[in-house]
Amino acid sequence: MPNKVSIIGAGMTGSTSAHWIAQQEIADVVLVDIVEGMPQGKALDLQEAMPVIGKDVSIVGSNDYEETKGSDIIVITAGLPRKPGMSRDDLLSTNSAIVKEATEQTLRLSPDAIYIILTNPLDVMCMVAMKAGNLPRERIIGQAGILDSARMRAFVAMELEVSVENINCYVLGGHGDSMVPLTRHSNVAGVPLNKMLSAERLEAIVERTRKGGGEIVALLKKGSAYYAPAAAIAQMVEAILKNKHLIVPVSVYLQGEYGHTDFFFGVPAQLGRDGLEKVIEYDLNEEEMESLNKSASHVTEVVEQAKI
Ligand code: APR
Repeated sequence: MPNKVSIIGAGMTGSTSAHWIAQQEIADVVLVDIVEGMPQGKALDLQEAMPVIGKDVSIVGSNDYEETKGSDIIVITAGLPRKPGMSRDDLLSTNSAIVKEATEQTLRLSPDAIYIILTNPLDVMCMVAMKAGNLPRERIIGQAGILDSARMRAFVAMELEVSVENINCYVLGGHGDSMVPLTRHSNVAGVPLNKMLSAERLEAIVERTRKGGGEIVALLKKGSAYYAPAAAIAQMVEAILKNKHLIVPVSVYLQGEYGHTDFFFGVPAQLGRDGLEKVIEYDLNEEEMESLNKSASHVTEVVEQAKI
């Protein structure tokens, strides 16, 4: 039987995730949304594209959770996106209720599913889903670090005119302005970034990475980024379903790693068929640790605010 991925929220990120997953023939996809007809319409349109690209996957849209029964992975993108001038944290109370409901509704039909969360504020929404489903930490992973790192990789590639495949960047911490781009661990084909770029250029790239989501929100004026976040979702889905043991920066529930415990935070982690396999701990210097701790305080403040 083919693998099945259900995506709750068939908006821009949800439907684009379905697109990437179907295009790479990773799994059958179910799109669920509260808007009548919209997930059905998008799913049918995508299904009709499959003969053109020669991929045999099924894509179904629904307003009913029953269709998600027996999913291997549940992706939650349901919620409100940011408007210009809004921070990810401004979405807190509305999105908490949506993520809680989506988790409860899907878990009763797919009791063994692994959850990938995208809804913002990301690190806190992961916690909402974890508590709502009483899930072990292996089965709940937030998408943020792959996107933030990809943005940094894209900026370095544009600056140096080098293939994106040669560029390795690692962005850790909370998914917000306090994120921590690790320049010392980032490199171009093994050469450290600070040997390839001046201190000023590197700082400019770090700053642009931190504000990468906001840059797109300001340009779009309506809604937030979706191509790159959705591509990151597809990469996580593939890593899990193909048991790739892939190490990527994602948001996971820390239990002592990096000196922190009991909240979701962006760290490098290995993903396989059971979800989170392990957290990779970098050797961080004092300055990097300080930035990470600052980012951690921000995440825990929002968790407290959310009263989960
Ligand atoms: N159940 C199912 N779907 C819902 C629910 C719900 N209770 N509430 C809202 N939705 C749907 C909306 O109808 C909409 O189609 O979630 C979808 C969200 O899609 P978009 O508005 O296009 O937002 P998108 O850009 O995809 O972002 C979704 O991901 O990156 C984050 O900050 C972003 O939190 C936001 C989320």
